[in-house]
Amino acid sequence: DERGAVRRDLAGRELLITAGGTREELDPVRFLANHSSGRQGWALAHAALVRGARVRLAAANVELETPPGALRLDVGSAAELADLVAEHRGQVDALVMAAAVADFTAAERATSKIKKDESAGDDSETVPSLALRRTQDILRHSVLERTRSGQARPAIVGFAAETGSEDASALELAAAKARRKGADLLVFNDLTGGVFGAADNAVRILDHEGEEVARAEGSKVLVAHAVLDELVPHLPEVP
Ligand code: CTP
Ligand code: CA
Repeated sequence: DERGAVRRDLAGRELLITAGGTREELDPVRFLANHSSGRQGWALAHAALVRGARVRLAAANVELETPPGALRLDVGSAAELADLVAEHRGQVDALVMAAAVADFTAAERATSKIKKDESAGDDSETVPSLALRRTQDILRHSVLERTRSGQARPAIVGFAAETGSEDASALELAAAKARRKGADLLVFNDLTGGVFGAADNAVRILDHEGEEVARAEGSKVLVAHAVLDELVPHLPEVP
């Protein structure tokens, strides 16, 4: 713990943390992906383990060594991650969705390599169009399923990376997203400056009404501890 004090406030708790970025296969050799390194999810796993939690770490295409003590569950695509979360959601005290999940996947995965041009010849300018469909919004779905079940568990944390525009600031977009998703907490990352893969990080933590409850700036482990500090009061009561 970078603050020097080890709090065991997650002892006996079970967390499912998703990390990394999903890959959507287009054909046998290509996929749609994103820049997520998995480092924030890893830092969350590390911090939670230090605080006494048991951690199931759903890793989407992460090339980092598994934090000692975590149960690592590897996935590739958004659909695989959705299945994994559905399987584990009911067994954990908290779901922390740090993974960057593809919003779209190929409507149909080609079984053979998509060719540059089927008919018009090598000098043709024609391009194929890629048919996409939406993936499941795992975070939103998990919130809805929790409501439907009438249960208090799991506590649910989402992440949002936003870039502002003339129409709306990054913070306004994040606050609207927090209200839309309905997760207990939404950790908002202003992408201006490029955070992917970097060691340091600056976040604001919003509640389900989009109100800021905390800020953190520093290493991803420090940010992780700040997120866990805010998560603890949302954990379901121990039976
Ligand atoms: N998320 C998810 N399932 C998806 C997409 C996103 O569970 N199919 C989760 C992410 O893990 C993250 C949160 O939702 O915790 C917010 O992701 P983000 O991409 O910022 O939200 P979107 O609703 O996809 O909005 P946008 O149009 O900005 O991408
Ligand atoms: Ca998205």
